[in-house]
Amino acid sequence: MKALLPLSLLFMAGAQATPIAMPDQSQLKVPGVAAAPQFVPPAESTIPDNAFGKLVREGHALFVDTRRLMPDAVGNGMNCSNCHLDQGRMAHSAPLWGAYPMYPAYRKKNDKVNTFAERIQGCFQFSMNGKPPAADSPQMTALSVYAYWLSTQAPTAVELAGRGYPEVPQPAQGYDFKRGQQVYAEQCAICHGANGEGQKVAGEYVMPPLWGNDSYNWGAGMHRINTAASFIKYNMPLGRPGSLSDQQAWDVAAWVNRHERPQDPRLVEGSVEKTRLKFHANDGVNLYGQKVNGVLIGQGSTR
Ligand code: HEC
Ligand code: HEC
Repeated sequence: MKALLPLSLLFMAGAQATPIAMPDQSQLKVPGVAAAPQFVPPAESTIPDNAFGKLVREGHALFVDTRRLMPDAVGNGMNCSNCHLDQGRMAHSAPLWGAYPMYPAYRKKNDKVNTFAERIQGCFQFSMNGKPPAADSPQMTALSVYAYWLSTQAPTAVELAGRGYPEVPQPAQGYDFKRGQQVYAEQCAICHGANGEGQKVAGEYVMPPLWGNDSYNWGAGMHRINTAASFIKYNMPLGRPGSLSDQQAWDVAAWVNRHERPQDPRLVEGSVEKTRLKFHANDGVNLYGQKVNGVLIGQGSTR
């Protein structure tokens, strides 16, 4: 952890529940200092042996095996648990127990108050590049029941330490593709492949892809360099979270997110430029609709 933090941040780190801007959750604002998580979700062994417990187990299965169990709803190679680690339990990995008690909530992204089901539908549409199941479908109920159960004894409408992906401030030097490419080759390619293609065994991904057709699309939160840097800093390389510097996290996030991926499903009149103006111009730090080395980014992947 870096020294020389502003005093105010240090105080926030000590507080269990930090005040947040409840009205706008289009981008979670978690303080740059990751407060030590206190909440412990229930152990799997305590799932009750009844109708409720059966739904918890179903929701868990859908969360970790999404692509295989919900082929109609998933349009890429991902499972929910690829980005919400340890089956949605891991602090600083947008855990389900940090999320469930905070809904319904207004989101700027779709300019309305979202129920928890609507929030999950957002991840289906963008992160999973798919078609969200109906809010009252059995699958959505099971996913919500799993999140509800993980939140057992959590307070309602209180931001718990460990929610979301803690913000990693942009370093003074910004980000650099060349440095990012080097971090990628040295620390990521061994699992995610030299071309971000992931790894398959018997046709199923065992390492998720980071770009290309089977990755999250241009509308997903992870396409923001700042969000990817946060996820990466606190969760990657797998098994060694926190080992990258802020600079390395930003550089490699920029490298990953300068590659093509499925088009933003909200594409406006077939125009990347119009889509950038409407949805990306004020959405964190991102490359959608920008030129890198003279090439327009955001045209959508073809492989
Ligand atoms: C490609 C990565 C990725 C995948 C796959 C993914 N998500 Fe997410 N999810 C995110 C990001 C990024 C956020 C936003 C976190 C933020 O704003 O800091 C998020 C947010 C959420 C939230 C709200 C968290 C909160 O604290 O408010 C829920 C709930 C959620 N996802 C559920 C799911 C479910 C269920 C699936 C599978 C259907 C899924 N996600 C798949 C990346 C992903
Ligand atoms: C030891 C193997 C390994 C290494 C090394 C590794 N990852 Fe991962 N990564 C994974 C696995 C496995 C997941 C999915 C986690 C899960 O499903 O539990 C993942 C998930 C991800 C995700 C979110 C899911 C997706 O596909 O978009 C991103 C982004 C990511 N890694 C980036 C990186 C970056 C950048 C590095 C290098 C700094 C890195 N990873 C190093 C194994 C690894």
